[in-house]
Amino acid sequence: MYYQKLKKFPKNFLWGAASAAYQIEGAFDEDGKGPSIWDTFSKIPGKTFNGTNGDVAVDHYHRYKEDVRLMSEMGLKAYRFSIAWSRIISDGDGDVNPEGLKFYDNLINELIKYQIEPIVTLYHWDIPQALQDKYNGWESRKTIQAFKKYCQTVFKAFGDRVKYWVTFNEQNVFTAMGYRWASHPPNVNDVKRMYAANHIVNLANAEAINLFHQMIPQGKIGPSFGYGPTYPITADPNDVLAADNADDFNNNWWLDVYCRGTYPALVMNHLRDLGIAPEVTLDDEKLLKSAKPDFLGINYYHGGTFQQNQIEHPDKTTQHEKDFSKTDPYLMQPKGTQAQTPEMAMFNNVENPYLHKTQWGWEIDSVGFRISLRRVYEKYQLPIMVTENGLGAHDKLEDNNVINDQYRIDYLQTHITEMQRALTDGVNLLGYCAWSFTDLLSWLNGYKKRYGFVYVDRDDNGPKNLTRIPKKSFYWYRDFIQRNS
Ligand code: BG6
Repeated sequence: MYYQKLKKFPKNFLWGAASAAYQIEGAFDEDGKGPSIWDTFSKIPGKTFNGTNGDVAVDHYHRYKEDVRLMSEMGLKAYRFSIAWSRIISDGDGDVNPEGLKFYDNLINELIKYQIEPIVTLYHWDIPQALQDKYNGWESRKTIQAFKKYCQTVFKAFGDRVKYWVTFNEQNVFTAMGYRWASHPPNVNDVKRMYAANHIVNLANAEAINLFHQMIPQGKIGPSFGYGPTYPITADPNDVLAADNADDFNNNWWLDVYCRGTYPALVMNHLRDLGIAPEVTLDDEKLLKSAKPDFLGINYYHGGTFQQNQIEHPDKTTQHEKDFSKTDPYLMQPKGTQAQTPEMAMFNNVENPYLHKTQWGWEIDSVGFRISLRRVYEKYQLPIMVTENGLGAHDKLEDNNVINDQYRIDYLQTHITEMQRALTDGVNLLGYCAWSFTDLLSWLNGYKKRYGFVYVDRDDNGPKNLTRIPKKSFYWYRDFIQRNS
């Protein structure tokens, strides 16, 4: 280790926390909201942990004022949340629902009242069910037009007060989980369809960015990507090559499109050979090239370690084991099955012997955070907003309303220190949104996997009284923000 005098975070650095509509709002059918694919999927038996869903979630829809007041007590400079498309346009591309707009209008005004910068995600995985039924969701180009209409509506309504917008949250995760593993909606198990849907989302992302730049020239927009650095297991050049291949399949396949407007040649060639590549027209190529994000959102949880593939002729896709404890959205496949999927024959995901794990088996790798920020910044030269980073854990409510989550403080502290090292290295960073502000629904793990600074008194069996109780990490982050801004 070499000594480095750390640069201070800029005064206007956006110290924030994040959430997503389906995971916090509840009120799933109130005030004209239509169902999203998550409302439907979470009701299919066996798909989520103990059948948990977001019908009530943590009832943020009715308690947003209390939540924003807590944010201000904590001294948050920014709050990242997502808009539920089906609250704004219940059937996806029909009439606009004024009550849906009103909710977000109130929320934004409340944030501004406390000088908290709103960062709005347009799509955090909850396409209206009606579009899934009518067009097959992201498998149809018609959905791009519907998405544009929704974007136009919210840009017009909130563009005067919201400067930062995120287009898609973790496109890599929702396409893989939704179309490869059928462990998210729309519950599909077909890689060709996955690559096709992913291409449509790329086009929708580009259209939204171009539309935004026409409508809100003073604002900033970009996608949030679930990034993980790739490491070779040994210095054997074949393992190094495998880690490079994994980087292309897991990261560059999306980031190159977002930032350069082109697909990486290696992956595209390989998919074409296998007959599962998306169809890309000349107009598509032009569109992808024309859209330039203003920043890149990075969600960081962990990376992956790779070795050369040991299987000579992998020729069939294996089925995803239904074991929620092993679900890891960032590596495309659970460990051990990766090499057996046909288009992934070029690398094999293995354990990293140097890293500890969370209670849910995710590697804890704070140095990987610095590596990620440097790699992404050096390659694409765009300002980075950390839009998610945090620790999911079993928290315990002790006597006198104490939640002693020192492990979360340690996790956040070490990650923020590595982020500061990246800043010192020269990475241009706009802000950091910890995941999450309050406890919330973990898509597949119910309410027991907690991430929040604020404990919410509910469990997998029901909403209980939904009381908000600041955890020890709440006070730690409050003091940290005060010292650093
Ligand atoms: C990201 C998502 O994948 O990670 C969040 O953007 C999600 O919505 C978070 O909740 C943590 O994942 P999990 O599976 O632990 O809830």
